Amino acid sequence: MEVIIKETYDLMSKAAAEAVASLINSKPNAVLGLATGSTPLGLYRELARMHKSDGLDFSQVTTFNLDEYVGLTKDHPQSYHYFMHENLFKHINIPPQNVYIPSGTTTNYRAFCAWFERRIEEVGGIDLQLLGIGSDGHIAFNEPSSSLGSRTRIKTLARQTIEDNARFFDRIEDVPVYAITMGVGTILEARQILFLANGENKAAAVAAAVEGPVTSMITASALQLHPDTICYLDRPAAGKLKMIDYYEWIQAKRPGAPKTA
Ligand code: PGA
Repeated sequence: MEVIIKETYDLMSKAAAEAVASLINSKPNAVLGLATGSTPLGLYRELARMHKSDGLDFSQVTTFNLDEYVGLTKDHPQSYHYFMHENLFKHINIPPQNVYIPSGTTTNYRAFCAWFERRIEEVGGIDLQLLGIGSDGHIAFNEPSSSLGSRTRIKTLARQTIEDNARFFDRIEDVPVYAITMGVGTILEARQILFLANGENKAAAVAAAVEGPVTSMITASALQLHPDTICYLDRPAAGKLKMIDYYEWIQAKRPGAPKTA
């Protein structure tokens, strides 16, 4: 896993946005896997700015979101449908029919999950998947003990996640207990993964994911098995990494590295 540490959240978001933009510029019909939460907000702001100021074109891009709360309608202010519309889609030129977000209100979850997986396959798979990490080490809503081979399905949220996400709801009782989420196995099939984390409260989970054993207790640790994951961190999120000097050495030595492409 390549680890890139930036001094601030803003610089981290810009670096990750540049990686997304560079993919879209080289492959205009790229398939992106998108994440919600506080972490990618800066990245989405930057993509919206690049669309407006630099003409970054999303007209052929397809997107698949990682997850959605069960029971929240698309127009619920805490639904991930609403989040994506407000924070990205309404600011760019992506055709609505190219946007796929798991449904929190389908009447047949089993069939929906199978269809969602099939759609990813039919469009040729995900080129680049964005990920945040939960303070319990989850990616998407793959809570501790999720199978590392799991596919899109319903998960019961961990208490820790409900507490973390309660800040967005009026009352903790309003946080949905179930979510529909891509599985770890689904995520690992993306060709490239950009894994982002910021803030001191993520430092322990990041260290466990990047340097700890691969374990279903920290589902982000499964990214160690992925051949092309880049981890973008701000300085506080990198605070508990043991090999931090080496990661920074690698970045410092990068300009002189042998060209592989
Ligand atoms: P956050 O959530 O970006 O709001 O911290 C990340 C996650 O739970 O995956």
